[in-house]
Amino acid sequence: MKLNIAVLPGDGIGPEITQQSVKILKAIAERFDHEFTFEEAVVGAAAIDATNNPLPDATLELCKISDAVLFGAIGDPKYDNNPAAKVRPEQGLLKLRKELGLFANIRPVRAFEKLLEHSPLKPERIAGADMVIYRELTGGIYFGKKTLSEDLKHASDLCEYSFDEIERMTYLAFEAAQKRRKKVTLVDKANVLETSRLWRKTVKEIAKSYPEVELDFLYVDNAAMQMIINPKQFDVILTENMFGDIISDEASVIGGSIGLLASASVGKQFSLFEPIHGSYPQATGKGIANPIASILSAAMLLEHFNLLEEAATIQAAVDKSLEMNICTSDINKKSTYSTEKVGTFIEGLILDEDLKLNG
Ligand code: IPM
Ligand code: MN
Repeated sequence: MKLNIAVLPGDGIGPEITQQSVKILKAIAERFDHEFTFEEAVVGAAAIDATNNPLPDATLELCKISDAVLFGAIGDPKYDNNPAAKVRPEQGLLKLRKELGLFANIRPVRAFEKLLEHSPLKPERIAGADMVIYRELTGGIYFGKKTLSEDLKHASDLCEYSFDEIERMTYLAFEAAQKRRKKVTLVDKANVLETSRLWRKTVKEIAKSYPEVELDFLYVDNAAMQMIINPKQFDVILTENMFGDIISDEASVIGGSIGLLASASVGKQFSLFEPIHGSYPQATGKGIANPIASILSAAMLLEHFNLLEEAATIQAAVDKSLEMNICTSDINKKSTYSTEKVGTFIEGLILDEDLKLNG
């Protein structure tokens, strides 16, 4: 298969981890005889520095003419500490999601058998946990009207949702549940928010066409607690934009490290693949960032194009590297392989055709 991939490394550790996932995609192309091309463009703080625009037109254009986007990370502390900044790196990613119509963000979370003991949670609580979070990505409070009064003493962010936005998301979540353990949990705050009540009503309606899928509801505060005390109850979590952002960082603790969590953002036409972690500025350039979330995002990219064996090969190589303790220090303090070493090890496993990755 021929795939043109736009690579947007972004800020902080983005470039170092993306370098590893590109390397892995090249190894897959070699092993399975595909033709993947990669073209880079700037986004975020890197783009503000270069062009004063967090999403330059050329970057957006490249994404639109490519088959998929591989995204690194975004954010820079110099903007975090300056709340008055009008131009912010994050605007680049938000605008990209909106412009490409990436309304669904899919974040799989599972407990890795070999990493149970490294989690701050009790191993018996998280063993076997396996869920996928369906986070709505182009609506809600992230995209509602924002105001700041002239005296800078009053600010507001509007949270809005339409039936259509909820409906298209809900179908995706139920379709996914049907192929999994057939359970959808809607996470909302319907005891307080009107938008949440619209979510409940819409989701209940759509659930009628999926009689074999169990539908459950949790308020987001309770869901945050359930995620820690009984994560095994979750199969597909369906939720709005901001709740999904928060709950997925929380869920990453189950996987052992946020450095392991990949995501796919999809819409009608375009798709983008990115780790859920941020730009981790403290680690930039030190070679300590975990490349696995980015590598697994590359696997989700392949899956999206139905290259299932290729995606499974990456997954198996990652599992093997974790099993052998070839990992960065966020996972295991005693195992301090560099970003590059971990990437090269996984690459080696992929290129070694004799290695039985699936057995
Ligand atoms: C994420 C990130 C982004 C978000 C930021 C960088 C805007 O936290 O992808 O989870 O909040 O969506
Ligand atoms: Mn986030």
